[in-house]
Amino acid sequence: MIVGSDLARAQLVSRSIDVISMHQSPSGAYPASPTFSAYRGYAWLRDGAFIAEGMSRAGQVAGASAFHAWCAEVIGARHARVEDLVRRARAGLPVSAAEMLPTRFTLEGGDGADEWWDHQLDGYGTWLWALAEHTARHGVRVPGADEAVRVAALYLTWFWNQPCYDWWEEHVDQRHVSTLGAVHAGLRAAVTGGTLPGGEAAAASEAVAEIAALVAEQGVAPAGHLRKWLPSAQGAMPAEPDGPVAPLHDLHAEGLGGDAVDASLLACVAPFGLYPVDHPVAVATVAEVERQLARDGGVHRFRADTFYGGGRWLLLAGFLGLNHAAAGRRAEALRYLDWMAAQADEAGELPEQVSDVLLAPRRREEWLERWGPVARPLLWSHGMYLMLADALEVRA
Ligand code: BGC
Repeated sequence: MIVGSDLARAQLVSRSIDVISMHQSPSGAYPASPTFSAYRGYAWLRDGAFIAEGMSRAGQVAGASAFHAWCAEVIGARHARVEDLVRRARAGLPVSAAEMLPTRFTLEGGDGADEWWDHQLDGYGTWLWALAEHTARHGVRVPGADEAVRVAALYLTWFWNQPCYDWWEEHVDQRHVSTLGAVHAGLRAAVTGGTLPGGEAAAASEAVAEIAALVAEQGVAPAGHLRKWLPSAQGAMPAEPDGPVAPLHDLHAEGLGGDAVDASLLACVAPFGLYPVDHPVAVATVAEVERQLARDGGVHRFRADTFYGGGRWLLLAGFLGLNHAAAGRRAEALRYLDWMAAQADEAGELPEQVSDVLLAPRRREEWLERWGPVARPLLWSHGMYLMLADALEVRA
C-alpha cells in the first residue's frame, strides 16, 4: 500500500475505528494503551475525550456516547467530593494537590491504587468540550450528562487558576497555558449548553473571561506566541501529605522556561479556539511550534523532552495538521496525516512516538528498561488520525 494514496488514507481510518472499538472497555472507557506496562488498565480523560471526538467525527455515535456516559458516571459519582473541595476553598482552607480529582481512572471508574502524577485540570475541560461537540453533532443525549457537567464545571470554576501537572504529567507547580486553553473551552461549552443553574453559569462565564484575560496578559511571550507556562506561579498547592511523587522525567529546567513553546499549545488554536486561527497570537504560535518542534512530518513535545529520548509524537502531528487544515493549508495538513500513517506497523497500529529522530538519544535506554517498548497501539494516536482525516474529508 502506498502511503499518501486515497485508499491508504481511508484504510487507516477504518483500521483506527476498529482498533479503538476493539479495545473500548464494556464500561465505555477507552484504555490509553491496552498493552503498555505503565498505562494498562487505565483511562485518561484527556486521551479519551480526544479519542471520542475522533470516533464521533467518524460517525461512530454509539461508541463515543458510551465513553461520554462512562465519564458522566465517573465524574457524577464525585459530586460530594467536589462540593467538599469547593466548600473548603470558599472558607479559605487549604486543599492539597493530592486531594484533587484523578487524572486517570481504572476502566471501572475507580481512582486506581498505583501512584500517578495526579491532579491535571485539562482532562476535565477537554471532556466538557468533547461532550458538547458530540451531542451537538449527532443530536444525542448522554445519560447523567447534566449532573456531571455541573460537577466538572463547578470544579473548574473554582480551581482553574491553581497550578497542576501539564499534558505530559510534569511541572505541578506551574500554570500551563495549554491546560488553561482546555479549561476555557470546557467551561465555554458548559455555559453554552444551558444546563448549569443560574449562579453557577454566571461564575463559569466569569472564569472563561478571566482565563482569556490572564492568557492575553501573561501567556504570550515577547515574540508574540503563546508560552508553555505563565511566568508568575500562583500560590502553589501544598504538597501531598506523604510527600510528592517523584517527577516523571528528570527535569532539565534549562531551555524549558515559560517562554519556550510546547506542542500542546497547538490545541489552544485548533480545536479549542482560545485564539481564532487568523489571530496574530495563533499564527505566531503555530509557526513557532512548527519551527522549533516539527521535523519531516513528526512533532516533538518540547525541546527539553527526555522521555524515551524525546521522539516525535503522532498525536502532535495530528494537532499540527488540524491547525493547518483549520487555516486552509490542505497540502500541509495532508503531509502530517501521511506522516502519521507512515508510522503504522503491519497490523495498522499506531504508536505514541517514534524514536528515529531523538532530542536526547542517551536518555532512551533508561525508559526501555523502566517501562519496555513505547506504547503501541496508543488509542489517542488513532483518535487524532480520525480527527485530522475528518478535517480533510478523508473517509473510510
Ligand atoms: C503522556 C500523557 C498521556 C498518557 C497516556 C503519558 O506518557 O504524558 O499525555 O495522557 O501518557 O497516554
